[in-house]
Amino acid sequence: MTRRILIAGNWKMNTRSADAASLAKGIVDAVGKSPAVEIALCPPSVYLASVSEVTAGTPVELGAQNLYAADDGAFTGEVNAAMLTDVGCQFVILGHSERRQLMGETDACVSKKLHAALAGNLIPIVCVGETLEQRETNETEAVIESQIRGSLEGLDEARAAGIVIAYEPVWAIGTGKVASKEQAEAVHAFIRDLLGKMFTPGVAEQIRIQYGGSVKPGNAAELLSQPNIDGALVGGASLKVEDFVGIITAAP
Ligand code: G3H
Repeated sequence: MTRRILIAGNWKMNTRSADAASLAKGIVDAVGKSPAVEIALCPPSVYLASVSEVTAGTPVELGAQNLYAADDGAFTGEVNAAMLTDVGCQFVILGHSERRQLMGETDACVSKKLHAALAGNLIPIVCVGETLEQRETNETEAVIESQIRGSLEGLDEARAAGIVIAYEPVWAIGTGKVASKEQAEAVHAFIRDLLGKMFTPGVAEQIRIQYGGSVKPGNAAELLSQPNIDGALVGGASLKVEDFVGIITAAP
C-alpha cells in the first residue's frame, strides 16, 4: 500500500496578514504545479481566508489549527467545521499538545472534534505524543495508546482510513531536539499496529502517520524514508519558505 507523503506546515500563532500571504505565495511558487508530495498550510484562523486566496487553484492545500464541535450558535470566539470548509480548508489539526497542555483539551474533547471534522468533510490530523518524563519512565506506548483510543473513540472503519495521525513527542516540539529515526519509526510502527487492532490491518495500512517535532531540511530525508513515517507536521521550519520547501524536497 502506498501512502502519499503529507507535509503540513503548522504556523501556530505566528505571522501577520502581509507575511502570511507572502509566505504562502513563496511556497506556492516554489512547489510548482505537480509536487511529488501532498502539502498543506495551516495558518492562524484569522488568515485562513487570505491564504486561501493564494492557494486556491494550486496543489497547496489549506488546514486549520483547531475547530469547535458544534453547529452555528452562541459560542463566542469559536469557529466550526462548516466555517473552515467555507474558507477553503481541507484539513484541521486536532489535539495538538499545545492545546492539550495550555487549553486543557482531553481525549474526549478531541474525539468530539474529530467527529465534527469528519461530518464537515474535513480531514482531521490528530496529534498524540508523550512528554520527556513519560518517555523516561517507559510510558510512551501506554500514553500513545490511551491518547489514540480516546481521541478516536466512536470512529468506524469506513472513516478511519481517511484520517491522519501526527506523532509529536512533546520533548521534540520547538526544542531543536528531534527524535532519532529509530525512535520515531518505533512509535509509528507501534501506532500502526494499534490501529490494525482497533480497525483492521488493511485500514491501518491506509492511515497516514506524520512525525512532528523539530523537523528541518537537514533531518527530513532520514525521517521521511522510514517505512511507517508518512509525512511531517512542521512548526518552526514552516515559517520560512526555504526551510519548508527544503523539507518538501527532502521527501523520498
Ligand atoms: O505542529 C507542529 C509541531 O508542534 C512541531 O513544531 O517543528 O517547531 O518543533 P516544531
